Amino acid sequence: MNKILDYLNKGISDLHPYEPGRSIDDVIAEYKPEKVVKLASNENPLGASPKAIKALEAASDSLHLYPDGDSKNLKLLIAKHESVDIDNIIIGNGSNEVLELAARAFLNKDSSAVMSKHAFAVYKIVTQSNGSKIIEVPTTDWKHSLNDFSNYFEDSTRICFIANPNNPTGTYNSHDEVETLMLKIPSSVLVILDLAYFEYVEEDDYVDTNRLLSKFPNLLITKSFSKIQGLASLRIGYGFADKSLIQALNKIRQPFNSNSLAQEAACYAIQDNEHIDKSVKLNAEQRSYLMKKLTHMGMDCIPSHGNFISFKGPFNSEKLFIDLMKQGVIVRPVALYDMPEYIRVTVGTEDENKYFLQKLSEVLS
Ligand SMILES: Cc1ncc(COP(=O)(O)O)c(C=O)c1O
Repeated sequence: MNKILDYLNKGISDLHPYEPGRSIDDVIAEYKPEKVVKLASNENPLGASPKAIKALEAASDSLHLYPDGDSKNLKLLIAKHESVDIDNIIIGNGSNEVLELAARAFLNKDSSAVMSKHAFAVYKIVTQSNGSKIIEVPTTDWKHSLNDFSNYFEDSTRICFIANPNNPTGTYNSHDEVETLMLKIPSSVLVILDLAYFEYVEEDDYVDTNRLLSKFPNLLITKSFSKIQGLASLRIGYGFADKSLIQALNKIRQPFNSNSLAQEAACYAIQDNEHIDKSVKLNAEQRSYLMKKLTHMGMDCIPSHGNFISFKGPFNSEKLFIDLMKQGVIVRPVALYDMPEYIRVTVGTEDENKYFLQKLSEVLS
């Protein structure tokens, strides 16, 4: 026994670590399929912006130099993109880091955080690892029940997490639902609105970030470069909020938390509207194609506003996950989200989706 482990900070010893999707190399080594299609981690099937990829070649000349610790060039472009000031922005090593910084800044053993049941797994991890209590609100038809959230707040509540759309359910909440909640709750609670899948939502009543930010200094919005921007491997994302809040978070940020390649690629990706539009269009087409085909096969799909679909059917999800991997298709079981009957599949290219559907039907026959 390692004695030091008796002194782990409260919450860490029984923390369930994040389980990433299986990698292509892993699946090839274990199952040796003739081809692998990875639809497990909600990545962009079109890859990164071609302009960002090109920029990386030039940026590799300065690998020996520390990156710009302030990410100035990227922040200028994000400021333009989000119509905010540069001082309203914090850059993270993935948007996950911004979630973690906020949790570290406001959560401790005397506090609690409110989140929806079946919400993105990292909220629980960052809450528990800071010794804080997790308060889960039941969903309505898998959707965050924002109307009920305030009933679950305790005096100790310091953070409220909202994933919009949520992963793995794919459900979204309207602007009015978010604003009504913000008006109901004390301004001493930080609301984190996680918009990692923002670009994929097509609904007119979706959140207007500037309208919310202008009213609520206790709101932190996070966005990711890992999804539509296709830069998941570089680990870069950002948060934007009231300047005073950003200043506080920057105090505990590592000085060089985002590397220069990630910053450079993100600068090009955020301006590449052609690639973003193409990705949105592909996702919308292929998401409805997959929904139609899966429903036709008798699957029960949760209508999704993201780049993935969670579904259940006449299968054991853990067995199906393995059977599909043997056929070279990597999906994601979501038992960790208390959805043991469900499988989540990322919307791929037309060819990838067809391959997945073909293998799914073979495995289930
Ligand atoms: C809802 C949600 N938020 C945040 C993230 C984290 O993204 P990043 O890669 O920017 O850390 C994910 C990643 O899957 C996600 O699903």
